[in-house]
Amino acid sequence: TSTINTQNHLEIGGVDTVTLAKEYGTPLYIYDVAAIRQHARGFKETFEKAKVSAQVAYASKAFSSIAMYELINEEGLSLDVVSAGELYTAVKAGFPAERIHFHGNNKTEAELRYAIDQNVGCYVIDNFHEIELLNRLAKELGTKVVALLRVTPGVGAHTHEFITTGQDDSKFGFGLTNGQTEEAIQRVLATDTITLKGVHCHIGSQIFEMDGFIAAADRIIDQMVIWNEKYNYKTEVLNLGGGFGIHYTDEDQPLEPETYVANIITEVQAKISANQLAMPEIWIEPGRSLVGEAGTTLYTVGSSKDVPDVRRYVAVDGGMGDNIRPALYDAKYSAVLANKMADQADTTVSIAGKYCESGDMLIWDIPLPNPQPNDLLAIFSTGAYSYSMASNYNRVPRAAVVFVEHGEHQLVVKRETFEDIIQNDLHLTKR
Ligand code: LLP
Repeated sequence: TSTINTQNHLEIGGVDTVTLAKEYGTPLYIYDVAAIRQHARGFKETFEKAKVSAQVAYASKAFSSIAMYELINEEGLSLDVVSAGELYTAVKAGFPAERIHFHGNNKTEAELRYAIDQNVGCYVIDNFHEIELLNRLAKELGTKVVALLRVTPGVGAHTHEFITTGQDDSKFGFGLTNGQTEEAIQRVLATDTITLKGVHCHIGSQIFEMDGFIAAADRIIDQMVIWNEKYNYKTEVLNLGGGFGIHYTDEDQPLEPETYVANIITEVQAKISANQLAMPEIWIEPGRSLVGEAGTTLYTVGSSKDVPDVRRYVAVDGGMGDNIRPALYDAKYSAVLANKMADQADTTVSIAGKYCESGDMLIWDIPLPNPQPNDLLAIFSTGAYSYSMASNYNRVPRAAVVFVEHGEHQLVVKRETFEDIIQNDLHLTKR
């Protein structure tokens, strides 16, 4: 939670953000650990209350680091990884491999070998190539693996709208109703290396409404009836992915993360019992909703520029290198001056980054207390897909990450140095 302290500074997790800027420098990613724990527990308790067997897997693409994996492990969640790099980090954090789910539409042979070697608990198989590859590798390595099939339920959701046509045209997964999923089930059942636990879908991200989730669950359960009748295949796990929306600006009115899950449970239970099937385990994969609002980025204000009668640009010491989302998705954010929380927000300014691109704008036209050089700008809800999508564009070192909780702070990712920037560069040897 963020509050204002007696010095009119923004405080997160009981820590003064001005102190954090002094100690760690800016730009700085700050994570409110209590907020992450609260959502992690909220998701788990929602399933427990409904007495539904479940796994809540953190979609770690939203934000991963060794400390984050340790925190997720502490909270007893499972983990969704999508590359050997994420898996490697999780292994280094001591995350139990049996609770790791491996995703991806093009897992390489090397990645699968590494995952099998680590005894990863579940593979979310995306395509026919992967069935063959996984079967061959498991045989070669003399082991068995557990898997789900990723399906495209013909439902796509983006924020408010959800679309039920054309969404099979995606690089991910097996078509649910065009025969591909049935074919895949038969092929997997024919192997003696892959245990098929069930199916997975993910309909989109930053979704506010329930209808897309409900439609996807309904469509899959309709097919579960058919798989049961035709192949005597009993779906034990129904993984409905992530995508629960969060608050970036006041235009966003998401449900509580736990409410999405409670509604999903109710729908699945009703539809399953109407079809006289055995209740499957429900798995979910929240990323953004676990870490998004828990993250805040702190910047130092530098130069500014007035375009007479148009607008005032105020530049900060970060930008598209630490948060690509405004440039890439036109994402909107809200912000405050962390060192002047009591001042009137009487000046409308646009927040520019420091990168050499006109598109490097973090926020357009936001009222703030007329920012001056060395003021601290805090942008809220930057916990998901900011650090994880950061780059070294313009050879700017990546920012540090700090965790705060109970009035204490700890550095969990060091700020990169110029040495880090050139660490893989080699001098010309042939001239
Ligand atoms: N499961 C699967 C299979 C996914 O593909 C994703 C996100 C998630 C779970 C987690 O979704 P979440 O709960 O975070 O919405 N870079 C974009 C978001 C890309 C999401 C990709 N997949 C952004 O910054 O908005």
